[in-house]
Amino acid sequence: MRIHASTVFIPGATSGIGLALALRLRELGSTVVIGGRRGELLDQLAAEHPGLGTVQIDTADAKSIEAAAEEVLAAHPDLDVLVTMAGIMRAEDWTTPEGFLATAEATVTTNLLGPIRLVAAFIEHLRSRPEATIMTVSSGLAFVPLEVTPTYNATKAAVHQLTDSVRLQLAGTSVRMVELVPPAVRTGLMPGQETSDVAMPLEDFVAEVVALLEAHPDADEILVENVKPLRYAEARGVRAEVVASLNSRDPHARQR
Ligand SMILES: NC(=O)c1ccc[n+]([C@@H]2O[C@H](COP(=O)([O-])OP(=O)(O)OC[C@H]3O[C@@H](n4cnc5c(N)ncnc54)[C@H](OP(=O)(O)O)[C@@H]3O)[C@@H](O)[C@H]2O)c1
Repeated sequence: MRIHASTVFIPGATSGIGLALALRLRELGSTVVIGGRRGELLDQLAAEHPGLGTVQIDTADAKSIEAAAEEVLAAHPDLDVLVTMAGIMRAEDWTTPEGFLATAEATVTTNLLGPIRLVAAFIEHLRSRPEATIMTVSSGLAFVPLEVTPTYNATKAAVHQLTDSVRLQLAGTSVRMVELVPPAVRTGLMPGQETSDVAMPLEDFVAEVVALLEAHPDADEILVENVKPLRYAEARGVRAEVVASLNSRDPHARQR
């Protein structure tokens, strides 16, 4: 992925990692379009950052994805990077159906069906470009489970497997599959996360991601140092200890 001269669409960039990455890529010379459901926030961001493209999109809605894709491609026929950033993370209680069913369905629709439908909407266009990238966004929790968010963990594991599998199918085409695997980062993804001392400061995370993209433009996975204990827990033979530590009630014992 050429971070200095790409044309990038990031659905799921009205806040958090998506917005910080969008603004950094723009500073580095790329053309960036951000997307999300919050229309007023998109208008505000467009006013604050002249030149930043905005498109309203609900990635839980197939029709909204189709309409947004049409709008983005009409305005940016040179689009060559899609980042499937939009995601939700909600606590669940799997001891009763009321505790998880609605949340689980919403999480699968946004975190798994969303990226699948986004790829469907953009793949033919991206294949027509000489070089293109689809960046998916999984999580360290794709590799070790956090007790309170079973469906979130499962959707992120699915995003990892999907990225790996589609990469095999796209070998020999102009489209590369790249997986961004964040550790806990200080955003509004979950209540309390913006101030969590076990989460990475957002600016530090995005700076490390951009440095990795620059240093390793052909990497399949973008892994900051903080996520490696989770990503490689199984390979290092310490998965049980990492799962116990991650789910410890003692915040000082957590390492996510
Ligand atoms: N922060 C972390 O610790 C962490 C760790 C691992 C992975 N991740 C992943 O990183 C991604 C970004 O999360 P974040 O931490 O930056 O959280 P965030 O600040 O809550 O950002 C989530 C973004 O997704 C958008 N979004 C959610 N549902 C959407 C929908 N149905 N349609 C369109 N956009 C939607 C939100 O925009 P609107 O509300 O405007 O729609 C927002 O821009 C997620 O996929 C998350 O799972 C985060």
